[in-house]
Amino acid sequence: MHEVIAELEKRRETARLGGGKRRIAAQHKRGKLTARERIELLLDEGSFEEFDMYVEHRCTDFGMEKNKIPGDGVVTGWGTVNGRTVFVFAKDFTVFGGSLSQSHARKINKVQDMALRNRAPIIGLFDAGGARIQEGVAALGGYGEVFQRNVLASGVIPQISVIMGPCAGGDVYSPAMTDFIFMVKDTSYMFVTGPDVVKTVTNETVSAEDLGGAGVHTTKSSIADGAYENDVQALLQIRRLIDFLPASNTAEIPRLPSFDDGERVDASLDTLIPDNPNQPYDMKELIRKVADEGDFFEIQEAFARNIVTGFGRMEGRTVGFVANQPLVLAGVLDSDASRKAARFVRFCDCFSIPMITFVDVPGFLPGTDQEYGGLIKHGAKLLFAYAEATVPKVTVITRKAYGGAYDVMSSKHIRGDVNYAWPSAEIAVMGPKGAVEILYRDELGDEEKIAARIEDYENRFANPFIAAERGYIDEVIMPRNTRPRIVRALNMLRDKDQQNPWKKHDNIPL
Ligand code: HXC
Repeated sequence: MHEVIAELEKRRETARLGGGKRRIAAQHKRGKLTARERIELLLDEGSFEEFDMYVEHRCTDFGMEKNKIPGDGVVTGWGTVNGRTVFVFAKDFTVFGGSLSQSHARKINKVQDMALRNRAPIIGLFDAGGARIQEGVAALGGYGEVFQRNVLASGVIPQISVIMGPCAGGDVYSPAMTDFIFMVKDTSYMFVTGPDVVKTVTNETVSAEDLGGAGVHTTKSSIADGAYENDVQALLQIRRLIDFLPASNTAEIPRLPSFDDGERVDASLDTLIPDNPNQPYDMKELIRKVADEGDFFEIQEAFARNIVTGFGRMEGRTVGFVANQPLVLAGVLDSDASRKAARFVRFCDCFSIPMITFVDVPGFLPGTDQEYGGLIKHGAKLLFAYAEATVPKVTVITRKAYGGAYDVMSSKHIRGDVNYAWPSAEIAVMGPKGAVEILYRDELGDEEKIAARIEDYENRFANPFIAAERGYIDEVIMPRNTRPRIVRALNMLRDKDQQNPWKKHDNIPL
């Protein structure tokens, strides 16, 4: 018995060493942790149950039969995050650059299948160079199997990807089909093809950072939902995110103990809106003052900052916030903001996370740049997403709600459940200046007349009461009472049951 136990220990030790001490040292030198170190940080202490530690590849080309490493470049299994089950796989860059063989793919498939069957989130930690070149089509087939499972699990269980090293090929396409992608600054990259291939094909010289670093993907391409300083910070933030998410589309929303009174009023909100309607203010201040303990997990913080999206809690239960941000481009809706918010709204709807929308929007951004870029289609995405959503939707208009953007931002007309406005709300087809310039074109040039027209328009339309008179606003509320009013609305909506007509799936304007 001693001998078999010793053999087991030996095998485990070899597997834990992955690509060997030299490569582990190189990994550490680059400021990266190993796959196993990452899993340890991600999961509750001692909770990791590993599968398939002894799996090896079966490739016999390029001398690979003499080069086998147990585990084959990926560590898989399950564990808990604050007591809740999650499945996990972590690419081991020290083994063939974390590249994917057929056996490696099967290991991932196994935890993908288990996560779906047992209805728990799956987290992939990526640090890998895509399909294993020596395996050819067997590796491509392996990726196909991973992709197929990503798609089937989409909208059923949360799928989260963390990019923690250079990633190419399938190691960016699989994350691209998951719900959220987070990166580590300075050590992680995502590209379909790396700088060397770019140079060969297009003769363009570009660094890995400029081609696919965290800066690029959080601000330009919007591929990544956030970036963190290092591995440790990234993994701790993923633990925080998991706390917000339900385990599946049929699971209850998690409820954490909250020490923040649902009836808490905040008098400072009465002065949040500046006297001058063109002066900006920080919408995140409102979110933080409304959410439990000011805790807000922002998604896509650095991209399309004219709209804010993220998770918070109300009386301990997760909610999704979507809010126009007057601090950036006056909170206008453009293509990027529409796409960003639409994806977030759809995530919340998939997983029955109630949505709170704060509205201060001067309209859609005009101009050729936007129109050529497909503003009509991108704006329609957000409209579509809100209109199809059946989760509880509570809307608060703090100031401007102009034009089509009024309709889009979770209005009553697209099944907003409870729609409030602050007394400072202005709900109209457009702002006073623009309206007067169109309605009284022949008076332009007569400044006095125009000023009088603007004042008249402001008096008539720059308030919430015309909408309230029609029932488009359920109540005009005091800003200080925003939290208690939302809390009560959400409690009333707890058992909301709304179905869309049967369909195979919709045809959102992609
Ligand atoms: C086999 C690989 C590999 C791969 C890296 N390695 N990628 N082995 N197949 N795809 C190995 C290297 O040989 C090396 O082995 C070790 O991993 C580390 O790689 P380095 O190149 O030394 O590291 P680095 O300079 O940091 O560069 C990392 C990298 C680069 C950017 C990921 O290795 C790279 O560009 N790899 C190829 C990427 C690629 O084109 N993959 C195929 C994509 S196609 P040693 O023994 O020296 O440690 C694909 C299809 C999916 O994935 C379908 C998509 C729709």
